Amino acid sequence: MNVREHLLALNDELRRLKGEGGRNVIASDASLAQLRQAVETARVELASAEKPLPEEKETVPSPTANERQEKSGSPRMVAKKGTAAFSLAPLPAEAPVVTLAAGDKQTQMDALRNLVLNHTVCRAHVREGKRVVVGVGDLNAKIFFCGEAPGADEEVQGEPFVGPAGQLLTKMIHGMGLQREEVYIGNIMNWRPEMPVGPTGEQIGNRPPTEEEMNFCLPFLRAQLAIVQPEIIVALGATATKGLLGHGAFKALGEVRGHWHEFEDRPLMVTYHPSYILRNQSLRSKREIWEDLLQVMERAALPISDKQRGFFLS
Ligand code: URA
Repeated sequence: MNVREHLLALNDELRRLKGEGGRNVIASDASLAQLRQAVETARVELASAEKPLPEEKETVPSPTANERQEKSGSPRMVAKKGTAAFSLAPLPAEAPVVTLAAGDKQTQMDALRNLVLNHTVCRAHVREGKRVVVGVGDLNAKIFFCGEAPGADEEVQGEPFVGPAGQLLTKMIHGMGLQREEVYIGNIMNWRPEMPVGPTGEQIGNRPPTEEEMNFCLPFLRAQLAIVQPEIIVALGATATKGLLGHGAFKALGEVRGHWHEFEDRPLMVTYHPSYILRNQSLRSKREIWEDLLQVMERAALPISDKQRGFFLS
């Protein structure tokens, strides 16, 4: 048997145990290390065995295709422009059920962090030495920024929005007259969506999470919202917006950006992702995102000076 067949056999055995009502599997540290090694080897084998895609278009298989593959026990395959197809650890069919711990907000958030950081599915999707990422900030924040997924810097530091896009988000928060610590910053996803690794063993590039991945992580985001109870949610970019409003909610972000929506009875402002502004430095796009944030400041009853009102007008 090759590595893939061993892993599929293990998958079948775990499913069989689950079918029999098993809830716990005892595994030694040595076995887990061997399994991790086998998964890494299989990733590299699969990535190098696949021919590059002829298409330049981003192609992410529909959830139905993924579901079909999952039912047949195969790993899900994802491909992005210019890369080989590669395999992802399968996701369970059901999203996790999260129950908030008893106690105050800090106790609840500590318990939630502990749950997410140690969740076997989340951990199975991060490479050796990288981290699962949970939101950070004031547990009484009025404003909850929601991004897409950790990137290279975030999976190293274990904190959302600490890379270049995060630095811009921090500047935007300062522009609103706030400190980063006074808001809450989270993501739809708790791990960096996997892509093939390069020769150094580091992942090359980023991809948006699939609908299936976002649905899996959504209960963790809902739980953070239930603890923080913000007055306003700000969705940063198309992926976060799809995760919150639904994948069919819009075709182009422009249809929903700059307008108020609702997520679980909370006002939701949709705006650009800071990485869009990093790619498109025009005064116009800076003003557009700033106007969205002015609406957020007004709704949150934050003081707004004339200087702030005039940012990026000329
Ligand atoms: N982009 C996001 O959407 N989230 C992060 O945490 C970092 C970059």
